[in-house]
Parts: sequence; C-alpha cells; structure tokens
Amino acid sequence: MLPVTTALEALRRARRIAVFTGAGMSAESGIPTFRDRMTGLWAQTDPMEVATPQAFRADPQWVWDWHVHVAAAVTLARPNPGHRAIAALATGGRRVDVITQNIDGLHQAAGSGGVVELHGNLFRLKPFIDEEAAFAAAEAPVICGVCDGYAAWDDCDPYATREDFAELRLAPGPVPRCPGCGALLRPDVVWFNEMLDPAVLDAAMAAVDACDVLLCIGSSLEVEPAASLPWRALRRGVPVLEINPQPTALSAQALSLRGRAAEILPELLASIAGR
Ligand code: APR
Repeated sequence: MLPVTTALEALRRARRIAVFTGAGMSAESGIPTFRDRMTGLWAQTDPMEVATPQAFRADPQWVWDWHVHVAAAVTLARPNPGHRAIAALATGGRRVDVITQNIDGLHQAAGSGGVVELHGNLFRLKPFIDEEAAFAAAEAPVICGVCDGYAAWDDCDPYATREDFAELRLAPGPVPRCPGCGALLRPDVVWFNEMLDPAVLDAAMAAVDACDVLLCIGSSLEVEPAASLPWRALRRGVPVLEINPQPTALSAQALSLRGRAAEILPELLASIAGR
C-alpha cells in the first residue's frame, strides 16, 4: 500500500487531480449503491433486467416507469459533505476533473464543473435507437434534425425544434416521443449491454492521463470500462488514494482510506488545504 505521508504530500502538491466516483459517493445522500440493490430503491426490480435496450424494446412503458420511480428518489437527494469537499478542492489554481459513474447529477449540484458522466444522466433524454431494427432495415436510416436519432417518421412535425425536444423531461405518464419525428425517447443513461459514449470515455481517459493524483471514491470497480481508469493512472506511476468502507481489487496498490466518503473527504481535504 502507498504510504500515507507520500500520498498526502502528493495530494497537497498536485496541480491537477482526477476524482473518480461510484455509487458509494452518493450513499450518504440517501441513494443506495448498486450492489446493495436488493434493499431500498432497487428491491422490487433488478436493474440488470429493466435497464437494458432489450427490456425497452419489449416494453418501453415499464422501463420508463421504472426510471421515473428511481428518479423520484434521486430528485430528493442532496449533495453530501463529500460532494461539497470535492467541489471546494478546485481552488488556488488546482484543476479537478470529476469523472463519475453516477447518473444523479449531485457533483454538479455541489458546484463541480465539467463533470464527465461516464454512465450518463438520469434527467436528460435521448432518442431510443433500436440497433437491431436499423440493421435489419432495407434502407439506411435518416437522422432526425430535432433529436439526432434515427427518424421514426411516425408523427412528423416539420416545425418542431431542438428547443421543443430540450424541454422534455423524465416524468410520470406515457413514454414521450421526439416532437420532430415521433421516435420514442429514453433517459440518457448507459444501460446494461450498452457501450459508453466514446467521446465521454475519451474525456475521462484524457483527465486520468493528465492528473498528478487520482482519488477513487465509492466504487466496487466491478464494471468495465470505467473500472480500468484508476489502473490507468497507476500504470503511469500516479499516486492513487481510495476511499471506501470495503476493500476492492485496487486497495493493495492505493492509499486505502477505509471509511465513508462524506466523513473522510472533508477531513482529508481540510488536511491539505493549508499547504
Ligand atoms: N462512502 C464510500 N464508499 C461507499 C460508501 C460510502 N458511504 N458506501 C458504500 N460504498 C462503497 C461500497 O463498499 C462499494 O465498493 O461503494 C461501492 C459501491 O459499489 P457499486 O454499488 O458496485 O457501485 P459502482 O462501483 O458505482 O457501480 C458501477 O455498476 O450497476 C452499474 O452502471 C452502474 O454505475 C454503476 C456501475
């Protein structure tokens, strides 16, 4: 394990810090982690069954309603002292790149800017692109000028605008459709069995490649490709500090601070503030 003094000194001196977060970051804001999913918010339905393109194709309304149910709980959550400590870290010429697997928007609510959302954001919408149908179609799809999806032409409105689309929100009721082409809309999150947006993954790798120190907070590191990001930093010889009440595969190679993010982060960052 990385010695405490070495890690803290590296953090104190860092000009550019990458902060990589998972569900544990928001646990103290009241959002249960994924691997605790048999309790609380996730108890009724296994996300691995409902948060997939296959499930949406089979029953869009069920998948939409489940996301509305999750969003109702997430909307009540507020940033915790850990989120706020990370936002406060970006002072005095220090650059902080937050890379999160969370879809709850709490880093932004705490004041962090330019957050890289690897798995999207629950409160943004995008068109559902049925890759299987597109591959099977005889003709190449036309891209809709309003939603940027494959135009469905179910309900074409030539006067619809991108602003009309941008106003649509995740809310109870029927699954919304693109105001321009009628394509079904879905939350802009990465479901199981889906690839990450390559541009977003590139942004995350660029931040990791440029950092002097990486903080890894509240992730089980079980889901790729996100889980590889801390190792990418380690391969460059960059010090990695991990905050998690449980050990992970990374713990042996990081400075492993065993405890909860909302408690440890304010203390840790206060300890380096007076540098
Ligand atoms: N502070 C810090 N860490 C915590 C806390 C806390 N208060 N509470 C729990 N943890 C840790 C757990 O010990 C665990 O290691 O947070 C981690 C949560 O792990 P997961 O639930 O697997 O969450 P995450 O790593 O973000 O999952 C990755 O999997 O389900 C998919 O797409 C989903 O983004 C998610 C991805």
